[in-house]
Amino acid sequence: KILILDFGSQFTQLIARRVRELNVYCEIQPCTKAVVYDDSLKGIILSGSPFSVNDPQAPNPDIAAMAARLPLLAVCYGAQLLAKQAGGEVGKSTHREYGRAHLQDVTHDPLMATIAEGSQVWMSHSDTIKQLPDDFTVIARTEAIPVAAYKASARYAPNPVYAIQFHPEVTHSTDGGQLLKNFIVDICGVRQDWTPAAFIHETVERIKQEAGDKKVVMALSGGVDSTVAATLIHKAIGDRLYCIFVDNGLLRKNEFEQVLEGYKHLGLNTKGVDARQRFYSELDGVTDPEKKRKIIGRLFIDVFDEEAKKLTDVSFLGQGTIYPDVIESMSVHGPSATIKSHHNVGGLPETMKLSLIEPLRMLFKDEVRRVGRELGIDDIFIGRHPFPGPGLGIRILGGVTEEKVKMLQEADAIYIQHLRDSGMYKEVWQAGAILLPVQSVGVMGDERTYEYTCALRAVTSVDGMTADWAHLPYELLARISNDIINRVRGINRVVYDISSKPPATIEWE
Ligand code: XMP
Repeated sequence: KILILDFGSQFTQLIARRVRELNVYCEIQPCTKAVVYDDSLKGIILSGSPFSVNDPQAPNPDIAAMAARLPLLAVCYGAQLLAKQAGGEVGKSTHREYGRAHLQDVTHDPLMATIAEGSQVWMSHSDTIKQLPDDFTVIARTEAIPVAAYKASARYAPNPVYAIQFHPEVTHSTDGGQLLKNFIVDICGVRQDWTPAAFIHETVERIKQEAGDKKVVMALSGGVDSTVAATLIHKAIGDRLYCIFVDNGLLRKNEFEQVLEGYKHLGLNTKGVDARQRFYSELDGVTDPEKKRKIIGRLFIDVFDEEAKKLTDVSFLGQGTIYPDVIESMSVHGPSATIKSHHNVGGLPETMKLSLIEPLRMLFKDEVRRVGRELGIDDIFIGRHPFPGPGLGIRILGGVTEEKVKMLQEADAIYIQHLRDSGMYKEVWQAGAILLPVQSVGVMGDERTYEYTCALRAVTSVDGMTADWAHLPYELLARISNDIINRVRGINRVVYDISSKPPATIEWE
């Protein structure tokens, strides 16, 4: 494997994704934590950072000690820190270099193999390397900076040690993937055998070891992560995995039945629990979004807890936690500020005193999908849009009632069906209908109506962190609007949300 030492750059996760795309396993670790060397570790990559190496607070681990053990590639801040520690000089550059640049004087070197003169790279730095130690070798420059890539000397370390000022992990660096491959495969000698099939085999064996003949309980949500996680655990221990799927009354139309049927098909031992009325009665009269989230989250745990207690001798709790959640919780900056208190499977019953089994802890979302496909899980699970834990509860603005849920379920079902029929479902990252607490005047036949407004939201995104509104065809929007107004009683107006995130968010609450 490859270790990526995180100095806090916004691009660190991207480095990991690029490495994984090469079918090579890697892990991210904060730069403040000591590196643990074992036979599986073949190379280290140092990330960029928002710090300046000359800042007294800047992270400053001993790079020479690492390079004494393994080949190393230092990116951006890493490149500057390496230069500074080795006796070079780093300072403010006369002009900030940000954005596109082109490599010049690319030397014949294993790191640069098949990378052409003039190759586009992405720069993002305000400090620059002014002076390298005498015995270090520059292997590429750009028009603006004399040291775009360099190699350390044998005096510095017995292993190959490279540094690059640009970011190979962003797609704007055209040969970035090739450069990472040169480093990882040719220089570190790592085999590209980390495939979904290999992951499944390894993970199933590990779960068998871990769980032995004990029982595992798990909450399913109908989403990709929990479904793939449960299928892996089931492959390892069969029906000693007990799954619980709660109907909180805030799911999409017919979703409870359809998802349960899908789980049956996957062979998962699943109990469906109808808790709809409990949710409706506790939500009665509550309008504040955060209060609604808290109530829904707490009730979910209560229901799950009660069901789990009916099982005897359970030792483990299965969860669908994925890598971005893990990275977030151990990042150099700590968890990012709470905009919305997302309740996720991360926060399940602490009182249950169960050990966790989290088979997807080290995977990114797209890798979870690849593993799911390899496991033969149906596209209704794998291709499904993300859906928030509190469900329609946060898509009905203000007070939630059973009647409003029914209304929104109908409108949402019409919307999603049109997206599927037109082939747009796959083109957007997430879509859903929102019921506004606004009534307005309309006319139907000869009658005046005074009914609710339904907002449609569809976004394109990579990870949900930023998003743009999807440019759905007008004709499609016209058909959807027509159908909703004609077929859903209580709605006489449909609007389309054209806000991007930021500054808006994907959900309205
Ligand atoms: P926002 O609205 O924050 O949404 O732009 C980003 C992504 O997170 C989902 N989301 C939630 N998921 N519990 C969840 O499990 C929540 O409370 C929650 N709120 C938003 C949202 O659907 C989108 O995919």
